Amino acid sequence: MRKQFLDLGKQPIANGFLYKDQRKNEYFFNLGVAFDEETKLITQTEYVDPPLMFNDEYVYRGSMSKTMRDHFKELSATLDPKAKVLEIGSNDGVFIKNFSPKNTIAVEPCSNFAKETQDMGYTTYPEFWTQELADKIHKIHGKQNIIFAANCICHIPDLNQTFSAVKSLLSEDGVFIFEDPSLAEVINNNSYDQIYDEHPHVFSVIALDNLLKRNGLQIVKVKNLKVHGGSNRIFAKKIDSKIDKTVEQNKSYERILGLDKFETFKRFAIRVEQSKNDLIQLLTRCKEEGKTVISYGATSKSTTVFNYCGIGPNLIKYITDTTPEKQGKLSPGMHIPVLSPGCLLEDGVDYAYLGAWNFIKEINEKEHKYLDNGGKFITHVPVVKIV
Ligand code: TMP
Repeated sequence: MRKQFLDLGKQPIANGFLYKDQRKNEYFFNLGVAFDEETKLITQTEYVDPPLMFNDEYVYRGSMSKTMRDHFKELSATLDPKAKVLEIGSNDGVFIKNFSPKNTIAVEPCSNFAKETQDMGYTTYPEFWTQELADKIHKIHGKQNIIFAANCICHIPDLNQTFSAVKSLLSEDGVFIFEDPSLAEVINNNSYDQIYDEHPHVFSVIALDNLLKRNGLQIVKVKNLKVHGGSNRIFAKKIDSKIDKTVEQNKSYERILGLDKFETFKRFAIRVEQSKNDLIQLLTRCKEEGKTVISYGATSKSTTVFNYCGIGPNLIKYITDTTPEKQGKLSPGMHIPVLSPGCLLEDGVDYAYLGAWNFIKEINEKEHKYLDNGGKFITHVPVVKIV
C-alpha cells in the first residue's frame, strides 16, 4: 500500500524550458510523494507519461560539467575494455564515449541525443527500455557483460519490467551497474528538489534490493558517490552471486535513518515546508533591500523549488545555464528567463541562488572573482542560507 507524505503542488515538466509563445500550452501535474509499505520504495503518486519528458526536444546534457565527464571516465577505467557493454539512457554519450563502438550499444529514447551517439559510431536504439527491446537486442547482439545506467533507472515508472528485462539480457556472470541519487542523502540534505517528474522514484538500497530480488537479481556491492548531491552506485548480479559487505553496511545505515518507516518521511515533509518558508523569506528580504538576485544553473531541481515555493521573475531576475538548448527560453512553470552565463560581477549580481548546488565545488572554482569581490551564493541545502 502506498501512503502519501508530501505534496509539492502543481508542477510543470522539469526540463520543459519554453519560449514565450508556448506558455499557453504548458503541461502541469500534481507532484505527490508516497511511501510503499511493502517494498519501502519512495515513489510519486502520479507518474508523468515518459514521452512527455523524453523526446526529441530533451535538453539535459550529461556532459555539460567537468565533474560528470571525469566521473564517467574514472568509472570506465575500472571496467573491462573488452566487455560487451550496453547503456540504458546514454544521453549525449558522456559514459559510452570511453568505450570502443565495436562492443557497445546505446539505448536512448530522446532521438536528438540518440542521433549524436549514432553519429559517433555507436549502435544506438532510439527507444525506451522495455522487455521487447531487450529481446530484440538479445536476438541481434546476444547477451551483455555489463549493463549500465546513470541517472536513468529512477526515471522509469515500471521497475519490475525494467529489472526483469535487464536480467534477461545479462550474461550469467554479467553485472548491472546503475547509479541514481540516494534517498539517505535526500533526507540528510533536505534536498526535496531531487523529486520532479523525471524522478518518479528516489532509491534507498533497502527498496532496490527488495525490487531487484523480485526480478531475479540482487545487489552485490554499493558504492556511495558524491555526484548529484550524493548518489549510490549499485552493482547487481543474478541471485546467488557473492555479496560484498557494503550492501549490509548501507542497509543498516538506512535502517538507522529510518528509511524503512513511514514516520521518517512525515518528519521530512515538515522540514521541506520549513525550507520553503525560509527561502521565500530570504529572497523577499533581498528584494526589499534592492539586491540583484539571479539563479545559477537552470536545473530540473530548481524547477521543483521555484514552482513549489512560487518563486518567479519577481524574486529571481534571471537564471544562467551553460546548456545552449536552455538559453533564450523561460524556466518551466515560473517563466524566469534563462540566459547564457555572462559575468556575475559585470552584471552587478549580489546573490546567486545555487540551482546547481550539487556542483558547488566546480562553481566556486569558476566564480572565484565574483566571490573575492563580495558576491554571495544562496542555497537551501541542507538549510536555507547565504554562503
Ligand atoms: P543537474 O544538476 O541536473 O546536473 O544540472 C546542472 C545544470 O547546471 C546543467 O544544465 C548545466 C548547468 N551548469 C551551469 O550552468 N554552470 C556550471 O558551472 C555547472 C557546473 C552546471
